[in-house]
Amino acid sequence: MNKSMLSSDWFDRAQNSIPGGVNSPVRAFRSVGQSPRFIARGQGSHLWDEEGREYIDLVGSWGPLILGHAHPAVQEAIVKAAASGWTFGAPTTGEVELAEQICRLVPSVEKVRLVSSGTEAVMTAIRLARAFTGRDLIIKMDGCYHGHSDGLLVQAGSGLLTNGLPDSAGVPDAYARLTLSCPYNDSATLEALFQQYPGQIAAVIVEPVAANMGVVPPLPGYLATLRSLTQANGALLVFDEVITGFRLALGGAQQVFSVQPDLTTFGKIIGGGLPMGAVGGKRAIMDQLAPLGPVYQAGTLSGNPLAVAAGGATLTVLEQNPDIYLHLEQQASWLSEQIRSAAVQNSISVTVNRCGSLLSLFFCPDPVHNLVQAKTSRTDQFSRFFASMLKQGIYLPPSNFEAWFLSALHREEDITRTAVACATSLQELSSREV
Ligand SMILES: Cc1ncc(COP(=O)(O)O)c(C=O)c1O
Repeated sequence: MNKSMLSSDWFDRAQNSIPGGVNSPVRAFRSVGQSPRFIARGQGSHLWDEEGREYIDLVGSWGPLILGHAHPAVQEAIVKAAASGWTFGAPTTGEVELAEQICRLVPSVEKVRLVSSGTEAVMTAIRLARAFTGRDLIIKMDGCYHGHSDGLLVQAGSGLLTNGLPDSAGVPDAYARLTLSCPYNDSATLEALFQQYPGQIAAVIVEPVAANMGVVPPLPGYLATLRSLTQANGALLVFDEVITGFRLALGGAQQVFSVQPDLTTFGKIIGGGLPMGAVGGKRAIMDQLAPLGPVYQAGTLSGNPLAVAAGGATLTVLEQNPDIYLHLEQQASWLSEQIRSAAVQNSISVTVNRCGSLLSLFFCPDPVHNLVQAKTSRTDQFSRFFASMLKQGIYLPPSNFEAWFLSALHREEDITRTAVACATSLQELSSREV
């Protein structure tokens, strides 16, 4: 490694061999007008870049690291598994134990198939829903992100929203037309779509707490209405819990809001930071998958032993320490309050949305319940806020429309330092605005 090279040098070099210099667009720091930091190491709640600068990390690899970086139990599980070889293309006992653990923790999941990413999990859920219902149309919500498969890049959040892309190029119209989109938190429009397309909708897919247009929690009763509308119209309800699964509670958002979907997709925490996703749900639907049923899905590295070991160890630590969720709730709630009061003191209009350990700061005065409202956030203010936070050693997601993720290893001093940095950044903003 060339220690004299800065992150910016690496980024210049990366542009020659990697499109845009990054392997996922959300990492590019483009929307905040900066170039990305190249990360050398992570430990607990902290990160170090190639220049040796230390940061409090509020990205957590975009969600998987609920136990922070290099957690000893997860590290030990990975090292132990690697000593026996890391892929066989044949069943292993760890997969069975992890599947049983998921079914135990998430009661709506009777059977589960392990895949290698959240994108794959959602692709499989949609295929299953279409096969099970014999219908083609799906409904997603504006601003929700469900991975980068063709049919789900319609009005999507995350990197598309950050980069201002309504949809992706390269998706055939005929395919995109099978996806209907509807505002989040708006059950009247959803009901109207069911009336407009009777007997044609296979599934409604939703992030039960939207976290890819910034964090947007469901309004009271919204998820229950989705449940009853789908049931009444013979469609399946798919909860995309790639972010919320095992983060809001051991049983995910469906436990917190007491609504059971037909299918659930997982990713991120389920692999403990190694590549893994999963789709699970009712036995009758899951048994449509090959080799039992006619719905084909496969993966060379599905149920990879290292990912299974990391995911299983992560879920076990969470299961054995349920007070982690209380700790996360308290830290995130305190931080949100501090940001709100610093904003008031500095006369900056903000809306802080939070659910459990997920939070977002929108630079707008009014509540944010959907994509249209999220987009009223002043992203110019966010960019300045982001730059100030980074300078103070706080590593936030480089987009106004992504969630901040807290981990169990964020100690009181990390959160206090973060709150102080937020107050300083808001004060700087306020003095510039005058
Ligand atoms: C809710 C949701 N679903 C699906 C995905 C896709 O997961 P992956 O990036 O593992 O393919 C993401 C990724 O951020 C996500 O947030």
